[in-house]
Amino acid sequence: MLNIVILAAGLGKRMQSDLPKVLHPLAGKPMLAHVLDNARQLNPDRIIVVVGHGADRVKTAFAGQPDLQFALQIPQQGTGHAVQQAASQLLEDGNAQDATLVLYGDVPLVQADTLQRLLQARGQGMAVLTETLADPTGYGRIVRNEHGQVVRIVEHKDASAAEHAIQEVNTGILVAPTGKLKDWLARINNNNAQGEYYLTDTVGLSVHDGLPVHAAQPSAPWETLGVNSRVQQAQLERNWQGEQARRLLEQGVTLADPARFDLRGSLVCGRDVYIDVGCVFEGNVELADGVRVGPHCVIKDALVGAGTHIEAFSHIQEAAIADQAHIGPYARLRPGANIGSQAHVGNFVEIKKSTLGQGSKANHLAYIGDAQVGARVNIGAGTITCNYDGVNKFPTIIEDDVFIGSDTQLVAPVTVGKGATLGAGTTLTKDAPAGQLTISRAAQTTIEGWVRPVKKS
Ligand code: UD1
Ligand code: CA
Repeated sequence: MLNIVILAAGLGKRMQSDLPKVLHPLAGKPMLAHVLDNARQLNPDRIIVVVGHGADRVKTAFAGQPDLQFALQIPQQGTGHAVQQAASQLLEDGNAQDATLVLYGDVPLVQADTLQRLLQARGQGMAVLTETLADPTGYGRIVRNEHGQVVRIVEHKDASAAEHAIQEVNTGILVAPTGKLKDWLARINNNNAQGEYYLTDTVGLSVHDGLPVHAAQPSAPWETLGVNSRVQQAQLERNWQGEQARRLLEQGVTLADPARFDLRGSLVCGRDVYIDVGCVFEGNVELADGVRVGPHCVIKDALVGAGTHIEAFSHIQEAAIADQAHIGPYARLRPGANIGSQAHVGNFVEIKKSTLGQGSKANHLAYIGDAQVGARVNIGAGTITCNYDGVNKFPTIIEDDVFIGSDTQLVAPVTVGKGATLGAGTTLTKDAPAGQLTISRAAQTTIEGWVRPVKKS
C-alpha cells in the first residue's frame, strides 16, 4: 500500500497574504493542486493532506475529491509532528510494499518520474530526495559516513561548522516503510534548536535500527524549489513557464519569444503552429496544424482548426473555430461560439452561443448572441442581435446567403430567410422572407429653407 502525505499546515508568513500559502497559484492553479496531480500519477492507495493554518479554506478548495483525506495539525510543532497527525490514517497490508511518501504542499513542481525513482531507490527501506547546492544555507544537511552511506540529517540551526560545509541537502521529500515510520515518529523528540519534532530525525533512527537509508536526486533542479515568498512564487512561475515553452519548442511549435508565453493549463499543438508574444492559454486548448496566433491573445478552453489565423488582442473562451478561419484583431468569442470553416470574425465583434456557418463574415463591430447563422452570410458593421428582453433570451436564425446591411438590429425571436437582404439601419421585428429585400427606415426628407439657430445676445 502506498500512502502519500502532503504537508500543508505551515503559515507561509512571508507571503504576506490572507490566502493559505498552498492555495496561491502557479500557472493558474493552486500549488497544492500541482502536488496532487503529480502525486496521483503514482497511483497511491491514499493521499492525506495535513492542514493547519487556513485549514477550512484548504479543505473547501479541495472538497469533493474522494481520494483525498485530511489530517489537522494544530499547533504546528514541526514536520515530524505533522506526519504524526496523519499516522492513524495510513493504510497498511503488513508487507514490505507498504510505504509512505512525504511531499510538501509548497513544493509544487516535483515531477512523477523523480518520485518514481525515489520509490525505486528505497528498496524495502527509506529513501530521501537530496540535492547538492552551491549555497546550502538554511537546509538540512545530509550526513554520510566514510563509506558514503547516509547516517542522519542535521538541520542548519543544529549543525556544527563542519556540517555547515556539507553541500548535499535534504529537499524534504522522503519515503519510508509505513510501519517503521510510525514507530520512529513515536520515538523522536524536540530537543533541538527549534524545539520542533523533526521528520528528518527518522533518518537517524532508521540507520540506528540497521535499515540503510538511500538517496535519489531530482531530474531537474527546479523540481524541488519551494515557495516561501511572492518573489519565490514569481521565480518559480517563470521557471515553469520556461519549461513549458521549451517542451512546445521541442515539439516543433514556434514561439516568437519563449520568455513571453504563459500556459495555465494544457496546450496541444499540431505541426507548424506559430504563437506570437504575450499570449495566455488557459484550460484545455488545441491548435491544429498551421494555426497562427497573433500577439496578446487570451485563449481559454478552445479548439482551433487547421490553418486558422487569430490576429492580435483577440479573446476566446469556450469556443470552437473550424479550419482556415480568420479571427480578429480585437475579436471576442464567448462560450458557445462555433465558427465555421473559412469564416471571418473581425475587430470588435462579439459572438456568444452562436454558430457562424462556412465562409460567413462579420468583419466589424457586431454582437451576435443566441444565433444560428448559415453559410456565406455577410453581416454588416454595427449589426446587433437583440437577444435579451431583460428577462429571457431569444434565438435569431439567419439562413444561408443572407446579406445584412450595416447598423441592423434583429429583434429576436426572428428568422431571416435564405438569400434575403436587409437594408442598412433596419430594425427587424418580424421574419424577413427568403430572397427579398426587407428594409425598415423612415423616409428621408430635406427641410427647405431651414437655418441653424444662432446664439441670442
Ligand atoms: C525542512 C526540513 C529540512 C529541509 C527543508 C527543505 C525538517 C525538520 N527540515 O526544513 O531538512 O532541508 O525542509 O525545504 O523537516 N509543515 C507543516 N507543519 C509543521 C511544520 C512544517 O505542515 O509543523 C510544512 C510546511 O507548511 C512546509 C513543510 O512542512 O510545507 C516544510 O516546512 P518548513 O518549515 O519550510 O521546513 P524547513 O524548516 O524549511
Ligand atoms: Ca521551507
